[in-house]
Amino acid sequence: MVRITLVRGDITTEHADAVVNAANSSLLGGGGVDGAIHRRGGPEILEACRALRASHYGKGLPTGKAVATTAGRLPARWVIHPVGPVWSRDEDRSALLASCYRESLRVADELGARTVAFPAISTGIYGWPMDDGARIALTTVRETPSSVEEARFVLFDERAYQAFAEQIGPSE
Ligand code: AR6
Repeated sequence: MVRITLVRGDITTEHADAVVNAANSSLLGGGGVDGAIHRRGGPEILEACRALRASHYGKGLPTGKAVATTAGRLPARWVIHPVGPVWSRDEDRSALLASCYRESLRVADELGARTVAFPAISTGIYGWPMDDGARIALTTVRETPSSVEEARFVLFDERAYQAFAEQIGPSE
């Protein structure tokens, strides 16, 4: 079973085998975590993303899927890029958000990553309510069989950290 840990901080400075992005289907960067990863990781990551678009994902990576690239100058070895869903009041997209975590673990297994740092996918620019995003993240990682030893949630602010801490309960 994957051990889940919570820390407050900036995911781009984490020492983990892989860091997970909060990407969009273009894979060509954006704001939030995505912008920070590309800024700090340098142009190698964008080059790898462009190559993936050209070779496999001409129309973009579908929501809920994930791919891996080099981590460039980040302390991590790989970046895993899942495409989170935009939150919708009218449509339940929880399965797509859960898929981001499952797919990221599957890709981490393929890479042989043992420690994986996750952000709270979709809870920023994509508008997902933090409590629900935390619940889906933790439930999915708990229920997904994987060789990953540690899934570290790197929460950017106190509100996010508290939301995850409340969902995780006192037992972990
Ligand atoms: N480290 C850890 N968490 C962070 C960091 C960081 N450096 N920066 C922000 N967060 P977001 P999304 C938190 O907006 O909602 C981009 O333009 C943030 O507070 O990064 O999935 C992409 O290209 C929030 O809780 O991702 C897409 O177009 C969480 O990380 C779109 O935004 C996710 O916020 C994706 O939106």
